[in-house]
Amino acid sequence: MKKTGGAMLSMLNLDRQSGMPLTRQLENKIRKAVLDGSLPQNARMPSTRQLATDLGVSRLTIKNAFEQLTTEGFLETRRGSGTYVAILSTGITPIKSSSKRRRKRTSKVGPIAPHVQRIQNSLATTRLSHVRAFRPGIPALDLFPRRAWSEAYSRALRSHDSFLLGYGPSSGLDQLKAAIAAHVLDSRGIECDPNQVVITSGAQQAFSLILLTLLTPGDTIWMEDPGHIAFRDAANLHGFGIGSVPLDAEGFSLSSALATYDPCNLIFVTPSHQHPLGMTMSLSRRLELLDVAKSQNSWIIEDDYDSEFHYEQRPLPALKALDKQNRVLYVGSFSKSMFPAMRLGYLICPSGLEAAFSAAETLLSQNVSLPQQKAMAYFMEDGSFNSHIRKMKQVYQTRRDTLVTALQNHASNILRPEPCLTGMHLVTRFTNSSVSDQFLANQLWEAGIDCLPLSIFRDQATVDPGLLLGFACAPENQINDKVIRAVRCLEAAMPTIQVTEE
Ligand SMILES: Cc1ncc(COP(=O)(O)O)c(C=O)c1O
Repeated sequence: MKKTGGAMLSMLNLDRQSGMPLTRQLENKIRKAVLDGSLPQNARMPSTRQLATDLGVSRLTIKNAFEQLTTEGFLETRRGSGTYVAILSTGITPIKSSSKRRRKRTSKVGPIAPHVQRIQNSLATTRLSHVRAFRPGIPALDLFPRRAWSEAYSRALRSHDSFLLGYGPSSGLDQLKAAIAAHVLDSRGIECDPNQVVITSGAQQAFSLILLTLLTPGDTIWMEDPGHIAFRDAANLHGFGIGSVPLDAEGFSLSSALATYDPCNLIFVTPSHQHPLGMTMSLSRRLELLDVAKSQNSWIIEDDYDSEFHYEQRPLPALKALDKQNRVLYVGSFSKSMFPAMRLGYLICPSGLEAAFSAAETLLSQNVSLPQQKAMAYFMEDGSFNSHIRKMKQVYQTRRDTLVTALQNHASNILRPEPCLTGMHLVTRFTNSSVSDQFLANQLWEAGIDCLPLSIFRDQATVDPGLLLGFACAPENQINDKVIRAVRCLEAAMPTIQVTEE
C-alpha cells in the first residue's frame, strides 16, 4: 500500500504568534520530517486543498511551501499523480512509529567512538562547579581581596594600551612573564629568563601544550599513582601510553618505575606536595630522578600547584631549580593563590623551546586575556600578590587546625587525619578500611558536604579508602558544625556501607 504523509502533516503545529511567515514554518517542518524519516521517502503528500483545510491556512501558503521544497529537491511532482516525498540518496533510515524508538534516535548524535565515552566519563570533572566546604583545591574565595584586584584590573583597562585589545603575543605579556620570573626565583629558587615563561590558561592548558609540543604518537609517560586525574586523562586522550608508578614515603617510586617499565619520554611528578596524598620528595630522590631522566632522555613535568601554602617549614627548592639538564618543565597556577576562575597559569620551558611553545599556544588556543594578564602583573609588582599569599597562609593554617581539632573531637571513631604541612587539603582515612569511600562521599554530598574520595585518584594502585577534605574554602565558624553533620551522615550510612571497589 502506498504510504501517505497526510495524517502526520495534518497534526503539524504552526505558530501564528511567531514573526515567521506560515509558509516558512511549514517548509521547515516538512524539511525536518523528511530528514528524520518521519515523512517517509516516496510518501504521497496530501492535496494542497486538503492540507490547507487541515491546518486552517490558505491554499496559497501550502502551494508556496510545496513549490519551494520541490525546488530544493525534498518533494517531487509526478504528472497526473500528485506530490511525493522525493527519494533521496542520503541513507536516511525511517524511524519506527514507536515513540520510545523515536526518542532514542533523536537524542543521539551518531555513532560514539569509545574514546568519546572515555572523555565524557573522566572523573576530573567531578562536581567541579561547586564551591562549598570541604571541596579540595578551592581557596578562601570569601576572603579574596576583590577591591585590590578590581583596582589592578581597572588600571589595566584604563591604560589606553590598544595593544591589550588585540591578539597580543601568544606566549603572554612580557610584563607578566618578568613578574613571574622574579616570583619563582624568590619563592622557588628557579633562575630563568622571562622569555622561558609561557602564560597559559591554568596548569591544565600547560599540560596539553607540553603533550602537544614535546611528545609524538606512541610516546610513553610515567606518572604517580594515585595521581592527578586531569593530567592522566588528558594524556590518555592524546593517546600516550601511561606507566602508573606507585608511591612510597617520598612520593614517586623511582625504583618501582625502573623495575616495571621501559624508559619513557616524559615523567609527571608533584614533588613539593604529592597530589593527592601529600608527601614531599626528598632532595636525594629529586637528584636521582634528574639522573634517570638524563640517562633515558626524558622530559619531566613538575606540577607545583599549591606549594605557596606551607605551614611548618619552607619547602625545598623546586626540582626545576636543580635541573642542570634543561629537561624540567615547571608548571605553576594562580588557581589556588588567586582564584580558579581566573584560568591563569604558566609553564617555564627549557631554554631553546620558547618559540615552539609560543607557536603551539597559537595553534591550541591563541592566548589568555591580555587585560587580565596586565592586571596580574600590576598585582604582583605592587606587592598585593605576596601580601595576599601571606594572609592566606595564616588563614589556611587556622582553618587546617580547626578542622583537625573538630575531627579529633567528633570523628575519631570514623576518620583519621594524616599530618598536613603544606597545601589546602587534609588526607583522612577511614578507621574501617573495608568501606567504599566513593559511596560515603556521595552520601556526604547529599548531606551538603563536599569532599573527594581518595580512590578516584588511583589507576592501578591499591589505595586505602579515605576522603580529601579541603579546609581552605571552609570558613572557621562553619567547620565544627560541618564536621558534626558529616559524622552524623557517615554513621547513618555505615549500616549500608559497601565494600571498597577494587
Ligand atoms: C594536581 C593539580 N595540579 C594543578 C592544578 C591546577 O589546575 P588549573 O591551574 O588548571 O586550575 C590542580 C587543581 O586542582 C591540581 O589539583
